[in-house]
Amino acid sequence: MIKEKQSIVYWTVVSFDQISADDLSWLSKQEKQHYETFRFTKRRDEWLMGRWAAKKLLGSAYPSFNAVRMDEISILNEPSGSPYVLVYGIRVPGVLSITHREGMACAAWVSDAAIKIGIDLEFVETKPDIFINDYFTAEESQQVFATTEPHRALAASLVWSVKESLLKALQTGLRVDTREVAVSISSFETSEQWRSIRVSRCAKHTGFVNAAWRSIGDFVLTCAALGECALDRPLLFQQV
Ligand SMILES: CC(C)(COP(=O)(O)OP(=O)(O)OC[C@H]1O[C@@H](n2cnc3c(N)ncnc32)[C@H](O)[C@@H]1OP(=O)(O)O)[C@@H](O)C(=O)NCCC(=O)NCCS
Repeated sequence: MIKEKQSIVYWTVVSFDQISADDLSWLSKQEKQHYETFRFTKRRDEWLMGRWAAKKLLGSAYPSFNAVRMDEISILNEPSGSPYVLVYGIRVPGVLSITHREGMACAAWVSDAAIKIGIDLEFVETKPDIFINDYFTAEESQQVFATTEPHRALAASLVWSVKESLLKALQTGLRVDTREVAVSISSFETSEQWRSIRVSRCAKHTGFVNAAWRSIGDFVLTCAALGECALDRPLLFQQV
């Protein structure tokens, strides 16, 4: 169904007001069952936004998806939490990543079988020193503490966001020590263009690692991509 498009990361951003809470007919049967299990409205709404973003993304990135009813597409999660896509109950090859924050959700998709991706949306805000000391490597903490305002909040949020993206691309999430991945930021100038970030360590991963970031208003959106081989594949981002 999907034509292979190597190394293009399709991504989208949606806000909660784009979703009608009264019409959930676009959820699949499995998704509706899961929707009923949420105890907290905030978590349920975030989950819903993630599904909406992912389905919108797939429909826009791949015209063939438009022939499929939205309730025939399921966005489910592995036991690890990592999301995946079923269409008519069949798994779609590719990697989906989802992030949500403060009434917004982003989804990204890559169909290149050699790549795993992770994305993270982070509100730019000051992080307590104790948080930085606990979760950042010595070099990252040093870089953040050496950065003066107004860039310090951005530096801390950006480092944290790239870590989360890398941990999602590894499909472990926060089960791995966040100091097992290390990043170095060379510029804190905000821009709505994607720019690269250097990753100096990525847990036990030995293949290629790519990371990039951009601003979305007061947020940063980061994306990490990992490959199973040493081949360097620059990422191409396409917003849909
Ligand atoms: C993955 C994780 C880093 C995301 O944290 P976050 O910043 O709070 O949330 P985000 O909105 O950016 O991302 C949430 C999405 O990440 C994705 N995700 C969750 N676990 C994932 C994993 N192991 N690998 C890749 N993606 C994952 C899911 O799609 C989730 O959205 P959904 O549940 O609506 O499908 C974190 O939730 C985590 O590590 N979870 C697994 C371990 C865990 O549960 N630990 C308990 C807390 S320490």
